[in-house]
Amino acid sequence: MTPETHTIEGGFSRRGFLGRLAGGSTAALVGLTDTRTAFAGTLQSVRATGADGRSDGGYWEKVRKQFMLEDGFAYLNTGTLGPTPRPVWEAMNEYWRLMAVNPNENSAVFQNHVEQIRTKVAAFVGATPDEIAITRNTTEGNTILCQGLDLAPGDEILITAYEHASNRETQMRHAKRRGLVVKEVQFPMPPANPQVIIDAFAAAITPKTRVMHFGNPLGGYGCIMPAKQLADLAHSKKILCFVDGAHATGMFQFSLKEWGVDGFACNSHKWLCGAAGAGVLFVKRDVQERVAPVMGIYRDEPAGARKYDQLSRRPWPTVMTFEDIIDFHTAIGSARIEARARALGEFVRTGLAAIPKVKIYTPMDPAMSCGTTTAGIDGVPGAQIREYLRQKYDTYVPGGSDRIRISTHYFNTFDQADRVIKAYRELASGVS
Ligand SMILES: Cc1ncc(COP(=O)(O)O)c(C=O)c1O
Repeated sequence: MTPETHTIEGGFSRRGFLGRLAGGSTAALVGLTDTRTAFAGTLQSVRATGADGRSDGGYWEKVRKQFMLEDGFAYLNTGTLGPTPRPVWEAMNEYWRLMAVNPNENSAVFQNHVEQIRTKVAAFVGATPDEIAITRNTTEGNTILCQGLDLAPGDEILITAYEHASNRETQMRHAKRRGLVVKEVQFPMPPANPQVIIDAFAAAITPKTRVMHFGNPLGGYGCIMPAKQLADLAHSKKILCFVDGAHATGMFQFSLKEWGVDGFACNSHKWLCGAAGAGVLFVKRDVQERVAPVMGIYRDEPAGARKYDQLSRRPWPTVMTFEDIIDFHTAIGSARIEARARALGEFVRTGLAAIPKVKIYTPMDPAMSCGTTTAGIDGVPGAQIREYLRQKYDTYVPGGSDRIRISTHYFNTFDQADRVIKAYRELASGVS
């Protein structure tokens, strides 16, 4: 289904949809149709030609107006939770309303739509529908990969020293219960180049290593990993390669087929800007026998990766919204969005690099970074930088310890990115 034809009817035939909703209220049908028509119109308006990251002729302002962020407020934390654009939020509200007016029949309609969503998500990440489970978030996907894999006591798992708790703590707890060994691969941050990371993984492999599981990009640092080379290295040693892709989806373009990894987990609520509560688990076809589901409700196991999403009742409106946000994203264009996130990120990194006492943890190399920048100032706690930006510049960033993480995405502006540079300059020179 193309974005132009994105109507709920278009997905699983208008007649079929109306037929299935016959037990629902007429008001529900009219409301849904209106919502879908408005949504399709919005997609038309955000579609553009030629707008790059920098000189946009007003295009990005138009896109920005589709978001509900307050005027003047700079939200620079897509890395935790992206804002949902209004048309997608409106569509989701309509799905929730339908759940309320006729819970059973309308949720069955949504449930019947899942295969179409699975197909769309599969195309978006470069996989086949049989390899895709619709989960609730990255953590659920990481957990299934970790707990479902057929490992034996003494087997070793490689993660990096920079993993998010979602991967690290899941691995550590499970390893403790099962007698597995988790090794944290060490390399400097930022690494000088991708080879540094590959060499560190190669050096950590032993005859007992069974799987490597790393973030790409590493969430706290925005460091893009050499996923394909690491997958090749893993396979050359008969090791599996799993990726925590919480920050990849929606930030930059990639294809799981090209990466060649065996497992991948992500969400729709960070860089894709969907609703919190829908995610993806990819398990390569020939690895599915080795990864068991952690939940099961059907007597006959569903085919392919569907066996990993047996969740019984779930918030279907959130799942439905996954498709809408992919359509919204695709209407703008993944390449255009990546270019914009990268241009804003590079603007921040270049500006910060010129300030004495600033330490940047994110690689400057464009092949290893995109919309995330993590940086600190010698002698200034991260919490102080965070509060300074919040109070003086109406800018939200997360931060603690000795640094903050700045997420710049397509709805942000260069003016907002510049606030970060100004704040760092002021704090580094002792003004606060
Ligand atoms: C690298 C990384 N992995 C996993 C997660 C958890 O993501 P989710 O909320 O989708 O479970 C995060 C959240 O910030 C993250 O940064």
